[in-house]
Amino acid sequence: MTISTALGIIGYPIGHSISPIFQQAALDNLDIGAQYRAYEVDPADVGSFVGSLRADSVSGINVTVPHKEAVMPFLDEIDEWAAEAGAVNTIVNRSGHLTGYNTDGYGFLRALRESGGLEPAGKTALILGAGGSARGVVQALLRADIGALTIANRTLARAQSLAELAGPRGVEANAISLPSPEAGPAALSADLIVNCTSLGMRHGPDEDASPLRPEEIPPTALVYDLVYNPMQTPLLRVAELAGANTLGGISMLVYQGAASFEIWLERPAPVGVMMDAALAAMRQRESGA
Ligand SMILES: NC(=O)c1ccc[n+]([C@@H]2O[C@H](COP(=O)([O-])OP(=O)(O)OC[C@H]3O[C@@H](n4cnc5c(N)ncnc54)[C@H](OP(=O)(O)O)[C@@H]3O)[C@@H](O)[C@H]2O)c1
Repeated sequence: MTISTALGIIGYPIGHSISPIFQQAALDNLDIGAQYRAYEVDPADVGSFVGSLRADSVSGINVTVPHKEAVMPFLDEIDEWAAEAGAVNTIVNRSGHLTGYNTDGYGFLRALRESGGLEPAGKTALILGAGGSARGVVQALLRADIGALTIANRTLARAQSLAELAGPRGVEANAISLPSPEAGPAALSADLIVNCTSLGMRHGPDEDASPLRPEEIPPTALVYDLVYNPMQTPLLRVAELAGANTLGGISMLVYQGAASFEIWLERPAPVGVMMDAALAAMRQRESGA
């Protein structure tokens, strides 16, 4: 398979992605006559697909699960955030030269500040999960001068390896198991709780599960769930019961996409248009779910 549009997204599967909806809305809003399409690329075909991005007609693509690491050997250059994350979610084609970026951490921080109203510098955070998204979140929080971190994960060794990123930045980081008796106290002393597990995700491993109980959530915390499908997750429901502020994963999704748009087209993305399109798409899916 090769790319046949100027822009797009690759994944496997890809049918669930709402990126084509809000990216196309942005292109249309600015009267840019380009198409953004979803491409379901088999893992065996990633190299040849990435090779097709060097064509003059191509501006770039987004990359999602499971190709974020697999595309890296086929690129000419990798920017600092992507190299640190060990994952690429955006590729730009500049006259046949392919550069890989990672806008997930940027999108996470922008959503945290602009939609969640929380400045992380000096704060205490509890990160639930230690997979690909948790790595990006931890790196972003370290860059934003978070004060202290606890990383809680089902597989403790993965939390421990993520916590090791904090040492060189002089930040205190603990790794604990999830669930464990330490998780509740860690949550109760946190200013920010971020769910980076797939618990609560529609069609995920446990879509009705919340990683924390209401009595473990302080009303002063911001509870930020990266899961965006459904928009109201079990954790966000529990956090509302506890009186905490909440933030779902849609704004991060839109902000990381807006950052990709700005890299490809070198002009400001119409973020409001993208957000409205993303929310409308999610509401439509949820009403038909
Ligand atoms: N809003 C956004 O823009 C955005 C961006 C990226 C990801 N996300 C969402 O974030 C979630 C995680 O994505 P990811 O890429 O980090 O996935 P991942 O790399 O597969 O990591 C999954 C994490 O969830 C944990 N987990 C899975 N099943 C579990 C269970 N039954 N009980 C407890 N823990 C469990 C895993 O623990 P183990 O290490 O023990 O396996 C791991 O920490 C997904 O729902 C994804 O849609 C949202």
